Amino acid sequence: MTTEPMVDVTNVLALEAAHLLQTYKRAPVVFVRGDGSRLFDADGTSYLDFISGIGVVVLGHGHAGLSAVIAAQAATLMHTSNLYYHPLQGQLAARLAALSGLPRTFFCNSGTEAVEACLKFARRYWFSQGMKQRTRYVALRHGFSGRTMGALSVTANPAYREPFEPLIPGVTFVSPDDSSGLRDAVTDQTAAIIAEPIQGEGGVRPLSPEFAAEIERACERTGTLLIADEVQCGLGRTGEPFYFPVLGLTPDLVAVGKALGSGVPIGAALVAERVATQIFAGDHGSTYGGNLLSTRAGLHVLEQLTGTSEAQPYLPPAGLIGHVREMASVFDAAFNRLAAAHDIVAATRGVGVMRALELTVDATPVIEGALKAGLLVNRTAEKVVRMLPPLTVTQSEIEEAVTILDRVLTSVATASKVTR
Ligand SMILES: Cc1ncc(COP(=O)(O)O)c(C=O)c1O
Repeated sequence: MTTEPMVDVTNVLALEAAHLLQTYKRAPVVFVRGDGSRLFDADGTSYLDFISGIGVVVLGHGHAGLSAVIAAQAATLMHTSNLYYHPLQGQLAARLAALSGLPRTFFCNSGTEAVEACLKFARRYWFSQGMKQRTRYVALRHGFSGRTMGALSVTANPAYREPFEPLIPGVTFVSPDDSSGLRDAVTDQTAAIIAEPIQGEGGVRPLSPEFAAEIERACERTGTLLIADEVQCGLGRTGEPFYFPVLGLTPDLVAVGKALGSGVPIGAALVAERVATQIFAGDHGSTYGGNLLSTRAGLHVLEQLTGTSEAQPYLPPAGLIGHVREMASVFDAAFNRLAAAHDIVAATRGVGVMRALELTVDATPVIEGALKAGLLVNRTAEKVVRMLPPLTVTQSEIEEAVTILDRVLTSVATASKVTR
């Protein structure tokens, strides 16, 4: 029997209260161990993890293969900086190129940094060609791309932005259902449009094919670059390596993060050749970006996702990506049952194992009720219950989660009738 590491929960909370900057509102639970789709708290209570560290731990917790390659790499060589070559960056970049069709990669340490790099590379592209005024961006309402000054500048949520203004100027926000707004916003001064193919924080909302076509037309008409932010939806979560081709988008830059390290911090900007030719030595950099530890993790994750161990074109459905496709039908059936059974479920959304229930009421009591019942899901866009389980999630785990949600939705609906 596995026992949990001894942790003094009161002390954990007291130390954080005394010494951590209070930027996070945490749920009252201290996790100490994980195994597949399960997390265990300090008392040994088990939770079904349907958020996986916000879409990060795609191989599941305590993955034997990933921990073994990380341990071996840590013992061999972890970090040398980008002053020198090492064997792994090129290998991982080649695999990302085979999956995405974008031939070059810049490695960094998070999704936010990947977005930041894409924003910079887009401006550099125009600057290199003497178009120094072409600095503007068009971004989408309900979008989220991170919290640094650049990434925040293209993130719509006023609550995130206002305390930090002025942000970088020249960003126009357009609603993702407003095609004519997009046509007006994109001009020959726009450096790039940035869009998540599926808006994650915005409530798991895939862009419509019509709007995606409008983005493509706007780029074609003006030469504007397209940045696809696949930090949340990319690398297998939808049952596809990337979601941009599903929508018919042809980005010049793609930001990835989260899934790529399955818990080891790594991000990457994937870059089309026409942009890459306008970027030069010294234009951007990162001390840690693409170090041996994180790229070793990335290589292992991609092997698991595609079921291949050589840099070769992706052959679907294989590896975990094939498994996600199977789990998608389990989610579809289970969510249809939930929607039919509960009036407070206004809509079900999502693809693959990126899922959401939109409620008619605030999602907070459902998140709290699920936590008490041993299921981790999270709230986004106020009324949305979001699920991003590990890509290894099984049919019986999905059914277990839905059984818990079914009970919690019933009690939340009953309570909201009583208080009305
Ligand atoms: C679409 C998208 N882009 C960028 C980010 C920022 O990534 P990170 O917080 O890993 O830096 C996120 C994080 O949730 C995201 O969902």
